[in-house]
Amino acid sequence: MATKSQVDFLVMGAGVAGLRAAVELARHGEVLVVTKEAVAESNTHYAQGGIAVAMEGDEDVALHFEDTVNAGDGLVFRPAAQVLVAEGPVRVAELIEWGAAFDTEDGELLRTREGAHSLPRILHANGDATGAEISRSLAAFARVHKRIRFAEWTTVTGLVVDGDRVIGADLLDREGNRERVSARTVLIAAGGAGQVYSDTTNPAVATGDGIALASQAGAALADMEFYQFHPTALSLAGAPRFLLSEALRGEGAYLRNDRGERFMERYHPLLELAPRDVVARAITREGMGARPGETRLVHLDMRHIRGIDLHQRFPGISATLARYGLDLASDLIPVRPAAHYLMGGIKTDLAGRTTLRGLYAAGEAACTGVHGANRLASNSLLEGLVFGARAAFSMLDDDLVLQEADASDGSVWSLSHTEESELESIIARLQASMWAYAGLLREETTLLQGLAAQEACAEGLAQMFAAGKGSRRLAEGEAMSHVARAILHSALARTESRGAHYRNDFPKRDDEHFQKHSVTTGDGGVEFEEW
Ligand code: SIN
Repeated sequence: MATKSQVDFLVMGAGVAGLRAAVELARHGEVLVVTKEAVAESNTHYAQGGIAVAMEGDEDVALHFEDTVNAGDGLVFRPAAQVLVAEGPVRVAELIEWGAAFDTEDGELLRTREGAHSLPRILHANGDATGAEISRSLAAFARVHKRIRFAEWTTVTGLVVDGDRVIGADLLDREGNRERVSARTVLIAAGGAGQVYSDTTNPAVATGDGIALASQAGAALADMEFYQFHPTALSLAGAPRFLLSEALRGEGAYLRNDRGERFMERYHPLLELAPRDVVARAITREGMGARPGETRLVHLDMRHIRGIDLHQRFPGISATLARYGLDLASDLIPVRPAAHYLMGGIKTDLAGRTTLRGLYAAGEAACTGVHGANRLASNSLLEGLVFGARAAFSMLDDDLVLQEADASDGSVWSLSHTEESELESIIARLQASMWAYAGLLREETTLLQGLAAQEACAEGLAQMFAAGKGSRRLAEGEAMSHVARAILHSALARTESRGAHYRNDFPKRDDEHFQKHSVTTGDGGVEFEEW
């Protein structure tokens, strides 16, 4: 049966950006927060290292700005970085007031250092579980608010558009029931899309749904070629690419190749604390064997560290490694890069407005240009807090009236077992081809191979949808396919190397032609804009 309902504000995603926005919006209306699984299952929850913030006044803020701009390799939109570093301290202080417990010693907040930071400014919680603490405290704060309702285990499958305005969204629950919700405004804060790659530190929910839905509704995407690969994910056959926080290197870990050499001195004066894109590419190069496809092991080495109890400082990482028989303090830990964070996303202004009226975006799903071509470590949780709040402010300022959407057709969605296994094999091909053809080192031929592979996957998915079928997983497959093609088109158009986007065929940065942001509208066309 077709069902419809209405709410003032619909928030897609329950990570740091979505929850921070929801808290603000609830002061002025009813909020529905929609999330595909339980509230805790977001990219935010899995963030380990910390949250970068300059709490020591103007000079500290100016240095944080400089580090953010330098890491972004010539493409950071400076006004966005200025907002991030200047408003960050207020947002973090507010979060602490609302119950987030960061690690302290003698009543002082502890701070660590990570790559490309000029000084230690990264707050952490429970050692290496900063995201989980932020997610826990914000969710607890939001849950007691009477005007915030959570729709857990619910997928947004489409945005409802009337002319140039988004007026609601279609939802799917875990039994396959569908509902259309009209809303005055919709915020997409559904995180990134690491799952488009076979090797990722992201959880299974990170399938780029919000980015794809916005693009399919007509919103512009920006900087989609810039996918950040975290340098150090656990590299063990059969094990997931578990994140080994950059804070390990912040506390002194070395990187060694299979000959035991500390190789970073050949790549960057900041050694293991060089910008993330530099370290990730260095590991890839050191990990390549003499013949195509051959790999060599690269390791993190903390055996020389004295004066820190590594198991106490990194309890989550230590426990995971122990499951694989590895000890942070006494073993070499095998690592390799994995897809981690999308610098691009739904193009927004500094107030979270997208190019469609009624639609806003914040956090990893959005692209303000704040990270440029390479995000500074631990700026992402701060981004969620700062721009989540800003998006909520503009949703309130814009004060759009509710426009009731028609009910959708109310058929219940399901797939047969055979269809589900066919779907999984299409998704596996999609992910493997993105890793092979649009990974850390790209060139025209691989990107074209990637596009051909994606077109074949997209066709398979379209056939399933054409048969009137649907499921959460099919919607996710469709989203990943859309995001993958946006990455490939943008990567083909940027014929230079910058930050996380490295082209073997254009190995140099080309400021004359490309100190610009790529913008794509979903039909494969890419234009470059100066912001
Ligand atoms: C990490 O702990 O290394 C991840 C932090 C980040 O992605 O900024």
